[in-house]
Amino acid sequence: MKFARHRRLRQNATMRKIVRENQINIADLIYPLFVVEGKGIRNEILSMPGQYQFSLDKLEVEMQTVNALGIPAVILFGIPEYKDAVGSEAYNDEGILQQAIRMIKEKFPKILVIADTCLCEYTDHGHCGVIEHDCVLNDESLELLVKTAVSQAKAGADIIAPSNMMDGFVVAIRTGLDEAEFEMVPIMSYAVKYASAFYGPFRDAADSAPRTGPKDRKGYQMDSANSREAMREAQSDVEEGADFLIVKPALSYLDITRQVRDRFDLPIVTYNVSGEYSMVKAASQKGWIDEKRIVMEQLVSMKRAGADMIITYFAKDVATWLTEGC
Ligand code: PBG
Ligand code: ZN
Repeated sequence: MKFARHRRLRQNATMRKIVRENQINIADLIYPLFVVEGKGIRNEILSMPGQYQFSLDKLEVEMQTVNALGIPAVILFGIPEYKDAVGSEAYNDEGILQQAIRMIKEKFPKILVIADTCLCEYTDHGHCGVIEHDCVLNDESLELLVKTAVSQAKAGADIIAPSNMMDGFVVAIRTGLDEAEFEMVPIMSYAVKYASAFYGPFRDAADSAPRTGPKDRKGYQMDSANSREAMREAQSDVEEGADFLIVKPALSYLDITRQVRDRFDLPIVTYNVSGEYSMVKAASQKGWIDEKRIVMEQLVSMKRAGADMIITYFAKDVATWLTEGC
């Protein structure tokens, strides 16, 4: 009787290793960090055990760990004390995010600093653009986002990552950066960003939930039922000059990552978002799952779906495990 002996290639760890198709490398990891004003602050985020809001001095300590682990890049979110209708602190050259960028580039010049470019952490209403009569205005918001991106580049950001989902944000920001002579600063576009319940814990961390105006972000972020629309979103960002494409969230959208990978040749990033982190943490704290194995299995699924890089709150843990040789 003839049949395929698949198990020949599974018979021991070394055999499995040489036939392995995908792997996670420390070089693939991007670590998100939240920065607040003040001194001596290291506030644990209730819904995200192990993640903190840092003031600049404590951020520096955290960055030493990130640096020692060999994590190549961080993505920064700023949480200002002062918020207003137009998110002024987002494009204040002395704003908290700008200060954080400068500090990291000065103390850890080799680590890539990615600046999240959005307004929701900076507006008093909590939307990613300006609002009028319960509407998030597109083109008016673009002007403010361009100012934000240029201010972040001036502070030394290596990569601009616009997450606001206004139409035309890539071309607007590209033009603004070029005019300010930041032609060499790449744009990592949140090209495909779904209106997702998985962002819940992040909004606690970044104090960025919608407060007034539309009650959610469904008028600008994507409907989770759609995949062809995701291709149109990615296509327009490619045409507008994006250098990287982000798909977000990661786990419920691996099919989208695969389709974006197959159609476009830019580096692809998946964002393993806050809710995905919190669910694993909660189950792990109850002793119901093996956290390390679950995380590694989830991350390798993102690579298998075609991601080149992964933004993940588990970056430090994964870097530690990989160094220990798991
Ligand atoms: C801001 C932004 C959000 C996330 C990244 N940038 C939240 C949102 O759109 O409401 C989510 C990240 C996460 O959940 O980990 N626009
Ligand atoms: Zn936003």
